[in-house]
Amino acid sequence: MTEMVNVLRHPLVQVKMTRLRDNSTSPKEFRELVADLARLLFIEASRDLRLVPTHVRSPLADTEGQLLGERIGLFPILRAGLGMANAILDFVPSAEVWHLGLYRDHHSLEPVEYYNKLPPQLKLDRAIVVDPMLATGGSASAVVEILKRREVPRIQFIALIAAPEGVERMRRAFPDVPLYLAALDSHLNSSGYIVPGLGDAGDRQFGTGTPNVESSAEQFCKQDRSPSFRFGNI
Ligand code: PRP
Ligand code: URA
Repeated sequence: MTEMVNVLRHPLVQVKMTRLRDNSTSPKEFRELVADLARLLFIEASRDLRLVPTHVRSPLADTEGQLLGERIGLFPILRAGLGMANAILDFVPSAEVWHLGLYRDHHSLEPVEYYNKLPPQLKLDRAIVVDPMLATGGSASAVVEILKRREVPRIQFIALIAAPEGVERMRRAFPDVPLYLAALDSHLNSSGYIVPGLGDAGDRQFGTGTPNVESSAEQFCKQDRSPSFRFGNI
């Protein structure tokens, strides 16, 4: 039976998550870790992939083999989901990648859709939504809603870190959508950031959170919702 909230406890996942959280990890290493973790989570999410029998000739003999029997769609939520989708696509080149652009309004924390070129119907066996962070669950819920309207038969969600609030929201709204996570963290802070989390997943992947270019998290801290706000402690 499919578990609906799957938190990978593999030792490699824990070691890589530690590096991912580390404030001093460079964007290059951060991207590599995102890719490794995305593949590890994809393996878990795809354990039940349908196969089609085939034959193959090795240098020594004919033998039986297997082909992928499913049409898989990857749905990265821009922009932080990009690194995860690219990593999985390298691993499963037959997958389709459908980008969805959403950002979280810093004040309301509600998702704002800015890119969606999905056709009215998607001919897929399964859709896998990828985003490093499941915080309030607003972005994830909006994307799953978009896919449900297109009657995708099977939807899974892969995130690197989730907050209990986001998990709860997804479980209530979409009890049929299993979650695959590398970590389930403590809580959201008053600005909707996951604690302990890793900060801003998009900024850390794409180097836009360096001291010269303030991350959106940092800029937001300066606008000050809570007087004790400091970067590294968002
Ligand atoms: C981040 C993250 C998720 C969203 C999670 O994206 O990648 O998409 O926030 O938060 P939620 O669960 O509360 O909706 P962000 O809005 O920062 O956009 P970005 O990837 O372009 O930086
Ligand atoms: N988005 C991020 O990038 N990080 C969080 O902690 C929450 C939302």
